[in-house]
Amino acid sequence: MPKVMVVGAGAVGAVTVCKLAQRPDLFPEIVVASRNVTKCQKLTEKHPQARIIPEALNADDVQATIALLQKHKPALLLNLALPYQDLPLMEACLQAGVDYLDTASYEPPDRPLYEYSYQWKYHESFEKAGIMAVLGIGFDPGITNAFVAYAAKHYFDEIHYLDIVDCNAGQHGRPFATNFNLEINLREITQPGRYYENGKLIEVPPLSVSQDVKFPEIGVRKAYLIFHEELESLVKHFPTLRRARFWMTFSDSYLMHLRAFMNVGLTRIDPIDYEGHPVVPIKFLQKLLPDPATLAPDYKGWVSIGVQLRGVYQGKPRTLFIYTNIRHEWAYADCGSQAIAYTAGVPPAVAAELMVTGVWKKPGVWNVEQLDPDPLLERLPAAGLPWKVVVDYPLDFIDVPE
Ligand SMILES: NC(=O)c1ccc[n+]([C@@H]2O[C@H](COP(=O)([O-])OP(=O)(O)OC[C@H]3O[C@@H](n4cnc5c(N)ncnc54)[C@H](OP(=O)(O)O)[C@@H]3O)[C@@H](O)[C@H]2O)c1
Repeated sequence: MPKVMVVGAGAVGAVTVCKLAQRPDLFPEIVVASRNVTKCQKLTEKHPQARIIPEALNADDVQATIALLQKHKPALLLNLALPYQDLPLMEACLQAGVDYLDTASYEPPDRPLYEYSYQWKYHESFEKAGIMAVLGIGFDPGITNAFVAYAAKHYFDEIHYLDIVDCNAGQHGRPFATNFNLEINLREITQPGRYYENGKLIEVPPLSVSQDVKFPEIGVRKAYLIFHEELESLVKHFPTLRRARFWMTFSDSYLMHLRAFMNVGLTRIDPIDYEGHPVVPIKFLQKLLPDPATLAPDYKGWVSIGVQLRGVYQGKPRTLFIYTNIRHEWAYADCGSQAIAYTAGVPPAVAAELMVTGVWKKPGVWNVEQLDPDPLLERLPAAGLPWKVVVDYPLDFIDVPE
């Protein structure tokens, strides 16, 4: 089996490395490259049963990445760095002829824009080079896209309504913390909410629309409409969708802190002058708050993420819910992680298996729903993420007739 190379050794990358390290039959050598090589070395110590090769890399430097790819000749690069690195890493993979995957769409650092256009532009050149890129293969995006593809393949003739629902009901005992990279997370949440309806992208003020949603094992929680990047690819690839929305729960305490940060300008992404030094407030805030990876030992409780769907099957209306529920404690027992990093970090390892074994082999740049969801979802429970389908589910979102 060939080598793989993971770029990024943070909260999510550490989970992906943990899952790759559990499969030496498939991944006998794993290169882990990150800006800070000591994080990579810690992963080597944490998984002594695996052959992990730590490397220092600035992934913004395309030539440096090409040199590392030429040195190690991996079959696949897994990008678990930040969305800013998507384009330089795709460029390096293209030039070195290496397959690529990531878990978040590219964002220009100065504009929190969530759109796949930058990465979709690489489709033809990847196709011509005979290499494959899989975009957004975390949980959401990622498994949520696969859930929709699975529903379309096995349960519907047409899907009309999609609501993705995401609830973290866990407690970590800190007044405020994010569950993955704070800068990336708060850029997303503080954006206007956006959703698709009848072919149009509709915008509402940030966190201004909410609805009660009932989550398995958790109960009813208030969920807020936010924009999430998988909506863009799903409405493109399932044009029968009349409406597609994304909902995430936040506790009152979380929102109270977040609104205070927003009100005083601490979530700003433009540099301000502080005594002659440029300071980006959101990066400063990130330095003050806990590193998401450090929350894991104390985190307790459920996380539930799923898709609620409505459409028709054999001429009759049908509703469906596909979801995963896991506990933070399970993620800690398996990989020393909390469940948000775990749900994001397990799917890239499963996708890596499919790509290096040729189960997913299709030159070009693809979103997850364009690939066969069956082999991915079949392997997910054994990798730590169980999931369930409920047909004729009483949806939380029946506000328009079928
Ligand atoms: N799809 C999903 O379900 C989902 C869910 C959560 C997160 N995510 C995505 O997962 C990714 C990782 O999130 P995270 O919480 O693990 O972030 P994190 O803890 O901040 O880790 C990011 C890692 O990337 C490294 N890095 C950053 N810039 C780099 C560069 N220029 N060159 C090389 N390495 C660089 C960092 O190195 P340093 O340690 O030196 O800073 C760090 O090791 C993000 O893109 C996030 O959007 C996806």
